[in-house]
Amino acid sequence: MNEAVPVVPSSAESMAKQGCEKLGLDAFDALVRRARTCRRFDESMRVPREFLLELAELAHLVPCGANAQRLRFHVVSGAEDCARVFDELAWAGALKDWPGPAEGERPTGYIAILAERTVPGKPAAPITEVDTGIAAQTMMLAARSATPEVAACMFKAFTPRAIDAMGLDNDKYELKLIMAFGVPAETQVIDAIDSNPDGTINYWRDEAQVHHVPKRPLSDVLV
Ligand SMILES: Cc1cc2nc3c(=O)[nH]c(=O)nc-3n(C[C@H](O)[C@H](O)[C@H](O)COP(=O)(O)O)c2cc1C
Repeated sequence: MNEAVPVVPSSAESMAKQGCEKLGLDAFDALVRRARTCRRFDESMRVPREFLLELAELAHLVPCGANAQRLRFHVVSGAEDCARVFDELAWAGALKDWPGPAEGERPTGYIAILAERTVPGKPAAPITEVDTGIAAQTMMLAARSATPEVAACMFKAFTPRAIDAMGLDNDKYELKLIMAFGVPAETQVIDAIDSNPDGTINYWRDEAQVHHVPKRPLSDVLV
């Protein structure tokens, strides 16, 4: 009779993976792993405005500092409005020779995350920076969990004109983050921290145009 042989975890990674299986986290684990930043989309399949509104619905329910709910969400979906936002974004600083997605592979929707200023023209409460991250990743994961999958890229690099391009009042709102959405038209993979041939931890593309994202092993980040 075969006896079950207990598997001895060989690293922090495999221990975490086993814990994940035991806790029934497999589906969520897979979702988090594939929810990579995407920068090339299939523009022939536009993300419906209703889908983006559903993401905003979820994002407005997430935890936030003191439950103050200072975040605001602005949904952009029409082709012309999307083009206006696109012009204000800086894509993939680490891919020096890539100017950003070409026509036909651009995002088909955006959600801007803004914080309402307590005093007009003054910076919004600092905690809204944390609130923004929680809302953004919630939308990233929700989009990727859809069928068909919708992928996203978060932008902190936007011009000061971006808020005007969306027709919003900069005195009233501080633009925190712009999220671009679309049906993915590129493959991304998590790779070893030393995988980039140039020796940096920058994301990189191989000859097959697969996007590699080097991540540190768990043992390096446990302190
Ligand atoms: C707060 C934040 C701001 C970002 N800003 C930009 C940006 O302005 N332009 C861009 O191309 N990518 C931006 N990114 C995407 C990061 O480059 C990306 O998350 C990182 O390379 C790791 O890849 P991953 O998301 O697939 O794990 C941003 C991501 C975050 C979380």
